[in-house]
Amino acid sequence: MHDIYKPMFSIDPKVTYLNHGSFGACPKEVFNSLIDFQRKLEFEPVKHLAHDIYQHLKESRSALSEYVNCHIDDIAFFPNPSTALNTLIRSLDITKGDQILTTNHEYGALDRTWRFISKKRGCEYIKLDVAIPYTDKQLIIDSFKNAINKNTKVIFLSHITSATALILPIKEIIELAKEHNILTIIDGAHAPAQIDLDIKNLDPDFYCGACHKWMCSPKGVAFLYVKKQYQDMLEPLVVSWGYEAEYPSDSQFLDYMQWQGTNDISAYLTIPDTIKFLKKHDWKKKAQHCRALNLWAKNEICTALDTYATGDDQFLGQMTTIAFKLEEPLKEQIDFYTKYKIQLPFIKWNDKTFFRISLQVYNSKEDINYLIKSLLQYRASK
Ligand SMILES: Cc1ncc(COP(=O)(O)O)c(C=O)c1O
Repeated sequence: MHDIYKPMFSIDPKVTYLNHGSFGACPKEVFNSLIDFQRKLEFEPVKHLAHDIYQHLKESRSALSEYVNCHIDDIAFFPNPSTALNTLIRSLDITKGDQILTTNHEYGALDRTWRFISKKRGCEYIKLDVAIPYTDKQLIIDSFKNAINKNTKVIFLSHITSATALILPIKEIIELAKEHNILTIIDGAHAPAQIDLDIKNLDPDFYCGACHKWMCSPKGVAFLYVKKQYQDMLEPLVVSWGYEAEYPSDSQFLDYMQWQGTNDISAYLTIPDTIKFLKKHDWKKKAQHCRALNLWAKNEICTALDTYATGDDQFLGQMTTIAFKLEEPLKEQIDFYTKYKIQLPFIKWNDKTFFRISLQVYNSKEDINYLIKSLLQYRASK
């Protein structure tokens, strides 16, 4: 399969690319859609930005909301999950004494956002310890159950964790939060197109996803879903023409979020073409194939290197994080890349070190065999 798909992407053919998870990769066909929109913008900037933009955005929201199953007006575009979640987190009415519950597996930038907010507002930010190897989802559900108290205002949780690559039981935790009137904010940066995403069925209060990772859109497309009843609570991170708008639409949420000053938002407009590409290539089947390759790779790597992964197969999608001894992960990652031309993130998580593989349609068993050979050689040379 990779023989057919690798040439569809622009990725350097000389590099063994095992890091789709960090920034995704965009098929040439979809990238052309980005260039087309940028040409339209340059051809007639006023028509494109001032006259047509809201209709284009509506078409993009329509395609995306159908894809992730939510109402078209409950979703807005942002350039990345950090911006989307900062907009939300800074809008929350949380004060001294309130408690935010999360895990010790959250993405570093958002962990920092919560630390920043808790320092400013005096709220308590509590990270529950989810042990690895992760083998039983009931343990995390129980630790949330035990930690909830009358001060708990928000549960913040990744759908798929970044460093440790684990699919967490968000449906069960959202249900638990509802029983206690606690807001749920789900960081689903890695979910869309890696696993099935049905927002209506999960029913969180807020859900953030990235399109440029596993949906393979051009870079700079993320979204925030906000349940209707909370939309008026959201403040724009950048106050612009949508605030006290001269011609308001029916949605304050969209007015506030959709215009943040002059910007090239062509990438947002490619979403209908991105989804067309995914459907044309039966991406659901492709994701299943990549998951099977990932589970095979996990087993091969752990056996060859005599090491362990962060979780059982049932909690993995197209990524696996594997324990590997490193002294200086970032420096060694560049060193490893320079020696072997393998793009592989080396990670420090708590007091342990790992690498993470991410498998996409352009990867093959040969990539994994080369990775194993290279890691064994690299380890022996240290
Ligand atoms: C769990 C999670 N949240 C958010 C993000 C993305 O955030 P940003 O692109 O805004 O840095 C990532 C990216 O890897 C992630 O893994």
